[in-house]
Amino acid sequence: MTLRLAVLASGRGSNLQAILDAISAGTLDAHVVGVFSDRPDAAALQRVTESLRWSRRPKDFTDRTGFDAALADAVAACQPDWIVCAGYMRILGGAFVNRFPERILNIHPSLLPKYKGLHTHQRALDAGDTEHGASVHLVNAALDAGQVLAQARVPVLPGDNAEVLAARVLTIEHPLYLHVLQLLAIGRLRAQAGQLQMDGHPVYTPLSLESAHS
Ligand code: GAR
Repeated sequence: MTLRLAVLASGRGSNLQAILDAISAGTLDAHVVGVFSDRPDAAALQRVTESLRWSRRPKDFTDRTGFDAALADAVAACQPDWIVCAGYMRILGGAFVNRFPERILNIHPSLLPKYKGLHTHQRALDAGDTEHGASVHLVNAALDAGQVLAQARVPVLPGDNAEVLAARVLTIEHPLYLHVLQLLAIGRLRAQAGQLQMDGHPVYTPLSLESAHS
C-alpha cells in the first residue's frame, strides 16, 4: 500500500528530506501529500514543491485552538494515512490529536521515557549518560508520552557537547524513522484495536533499529 504521508515540520527538515530521498530511491512506498509548518520561513517547506506547502503563523490566530483547527482541516484535506511529525516544535492540542487517533507519529531526540520536551542532548550530558538516542512514538495529547514504537541508540563520548551529540543522534534518526515507515508501508506494523501491532502482536517493547532488518 502506498502510504500517504502528511509531514509536520518547523525547522530544517532533514528527516523530511530522508523520507523524500527514500521515496525517490524506491525504498519507501509512500507519497508526501503535504508539508505543514507553524513557521512560514521553515527550510523544510522548501524541500517540496509549492503546491504541497501549508504554513500559518500561530500568532495570527486568536488562540491555539484556532491554529490547530486550521492545521487539522488542511491536513485532513490531504487524506493522509499517517501524519509524520519531523521536527515539529509545537505541541499538538487534544482536538487535533483526537481527530487523527493512532495516526500521528513523532520522532523525539531521546530514549523515551527519558527527557521529554526540550534540550534533550544537554540533559543527557548533564546526567552523565553513557548512551543516548532517538525514539519514534505515537502522538497522544500528553507531551512525548504516546506508545514508543522504535528506538535507536548512540554512545555519548568523552568531550561531547550538545551540538556534537545532537549531530550523532540525527544520523540514526533518519534510518530509524524510515524503518518505522517502511514497516507501515509493507503492513507489518498496523493499528489494530486501538494499539499498534507488529506482525499481529502488540508492541510492548520498542523495536530497536539494530534488530530492524531481521
Ligand atoms: C530532530 O532532531 C528531531 O528529533 C527533533 O528536531 C530535530 C528536527 O530536525 N524533534 C524534536 O525535538 C521534537 N520534540 P530536522 O528538521 O532536520 O528533521
